[in-house]
Amino acid sequence: MKVLGFESSCDETGVALVEARPGHTPSLLADALHSQVAMHEAYGGVVPELASRDHIRRVLPLARQVLAQAGCSLAEVDVVAYTRGPGLAGALLVGAGVAVALGAALGKPTLGIHHLEGHLLSPFLAPDAPEFPFIALLVSGGHTQLMQVDAVGSYTLLGETIDDAAGEAFDKSAKLLGLGYPGGPALARLAAQGDPKAFALPRPLLHSGNLDFSFAGLKTAVMTAHRKLGEAPSPRQIADLAASTQAAIVDVLVTKTLRALKDSGTRRVVVAGGVGANLQLRAALDAGAARLGARVHYPPLHLCTDNGAMIALAAALRLQHGLADLRQDGAFDVRPRWPLADIS
Ligand code: KG4
Ligand code: ZN
Repeated sequence: MKVLGFESSCDETGVALVEARPGHTPSLLADALHSQVAMHEAYGGVVPELASRDHIRRVLPLARQVLAQAGCSLAEVDVVAYTRGPGLAGALLVGAGVAVALGAALGKPTLGIHHLEGHLLSPFLAPDAPEFPFIALLVSGGHTQLMQVDAVGSYTLLGETIDDAAGEAFDKSAKLLGLGYPGGPALARLAAQGDPKAFALPRPLLHSGNLDFSFAGLKTAVMTAHRKLGEAPSPRQIADLAASTQAAIVDVLVTKTLRALKDSGTRRVVVAGGVGANLQLRAALDAGAARLGARVHYPPLHLCTDNGAMIALAAALRLQHGLADLRQDGAFDVRPRWPLADIS
């Protein structure tokens, strides 16, 4: 069974083709991505209207590219999947509209997928797929959540951010340091040259006794530290502040994830979402998990940020487990705000 998946929830247009065979983990046949990062850079963040218009321009050429790459014709596609939410309403409507129109034209069913479920299951695209149950750390530009995952479709929220997401903390701090958009990768690059102990930044909610996060105060602390450096801080000072910021974010994420792991008694952690590409986070989490006799699974590095492969994969896994709410009536909706708990 072949699933064509569309992702268009934010600033990446992703299309992918996945094959699901009974008894096997679905395999990725082809995927293609267009990132709008360069287009939004001038504005310092995503401009929703520009994002929607660009998805319209990119989505069909990307779909053609994926089918050509896989040597597959449209007629061979069995199910068309798309990101139903959460995300930017206009952007979501592009992927959903194209997917449902394609389904109607081909006479094939469609399936709307939760974006975070895509991230959550994306480590199944790596060669060493995790086994259930596992703890999942979802860290993206819009979300920071710890979940207990017992099976496909069985997700329990253990804790989440009460204000900014981890990716937002990276992006906003990077903006304060004049590093452009998106800030996460830029801040991480600069942090590699700095001293993570140079600035004593707060670790919000580290000892809160629960698994919730808070990153808004960190941004304020970074702003205050930056101001204290005066009008013309040296590149060295900025690198030190970047390294200290990254260390604070990573410290909180790792401490809470390891606590969730201990509480759950499971031996596996899955990290997903854009911030999962952060190498410092990976190193600290790997070391901490190893001390607990546990191991950490990641999606392939290029599939950490938004992509179509994770949407096609989540659809394929749902189909395999009899959890796919397929539609063939040509109707669809998108859910810009959609709690993951609603689909469990
Ligand atoms: O999952 P994603 O692509 O989009 C959302 O659904 O939000 O995540 C994007 C986020 C951005 O905040 C970006 O700055 C962050 O992931 N990010 C990183 C790194 N790569 C991407 N943050 C820290 N270190 C990185 N290497
Ligand atoms: Zn995402």
